[in-house]
Amino acid sequence: MDTTSKTLPLVDQAPATESFREAVLDGLRKPQKKIPSKFMYDERGSKLFDQICELEEYYPTRTEIGIMQDHVDAMVEAIGPRARLVELGSGSSLKTRILLDHLDDLVVYVPIDISRAHLVQAAEKIATDYPDTPVQPLCADYTSSFDLPEPPGPVARTVVYYPGSTVGNFRPEQARAFLGRIADGLDRDAGLLIGVDLKKDVDVLRAAYNDADGVTAAFNLNLLRRINRELDGNFDLDCFEHQGVWNEEEGCMESFLRSTTEQRVTVDGTLFSFDEGETIHMEYSYKYTLDEFAGLVGEAGFSVEQVWTDERDHFSVQYCTIDA
Ligand code: AVI
Repeated sequence: MDTTSKTLPLVDQAPATESFREAVLDGLRKPQKKIPSKFMYDERGSKLFDQICELEEYYPTRTEIGIMQDHVDAMVEAIGPRARLVELGSGSSLKTRILLDHLDDLVVYVPIDISRAHLVQAAEKIATDYPDTPVQPLCADYTSSFDLPEPPGPVARTVVYYPGSTVGNFRPEQARAFLGRIADGLDRDAGLLIGVDLKKDVDVLRAAYNDADGVTAAFNLNLLRRINRELDGNFDLDCFEHQGVWNEEEGCMESFLRSTTEQRVTVDGTLFSFDEGETIHMEYSYKYTLDEFAGLVGEAGFSVEQVWTDERDHFSVQYCTIDA
């Protein structure tokens, strides 16, 4: 059996390594050293993230899947017939399967991811499991500009699917600008189905980002490993430790790698000094109230049409349309 017959050719708009090099060197020169979290998803990083999603402490994935399962009929109704489903940061496309199980006349599913190998593998699996749904993988950094490929047939509506509260990894002003760009690139009748993590008991949040098995620590440290491999770095991974910290004022969890000793590190020929206790800022994970998020997407040009939550109000999935 030809298992890839419904996978359309990969569209490759992946950025050059140059953008990774520049981001890392610029970030490490800042007074508060930082590395953008979007670079965490190389092949190993994507696998570690999949492991995070299985952790007892990491409630978002489980909770979002529960919401999707409970409300998939309403979501499918909102998406409507003959749609094009575009997923931003598709990873393993696990949650998407809940939608695909119920969307039987999808014109095309377009998973977008920066991790090419992971994307190709996931797209082939989807194509095998949903032989009636054409799959059109797009390798791109969806946070910068990308062009949607021509669909294989006429599309009634494009719906952008952005699960996992990945929107929380942007600072709010960046999230607004990013969602604004998405809105600008869509037709008036398009939709956005988005997973948004909600504000809650801080102990639940702290545990989710400081898991006992150290998978989140390994996920963060993996970015230093990637720098060593791809940018000729010499980070000693044993001399950095992970910290997940709640920032009450900003309303976000923040991940840091803390230097456990005074040390010097070279990346691409540039020397960086670390004091003992100095940190590299690795990631923001913003949490929102429903009102805060409605305000944010509103400023980006979307209106929230429907909101589904779990019974503890830990997480939400929201369907938004473009303001007329
Ligand atoms: C992908 N993103 C929404 C995850 C989050 O919760 O911010 C990434 C993550 N980082 C640590 N654990 C999970």
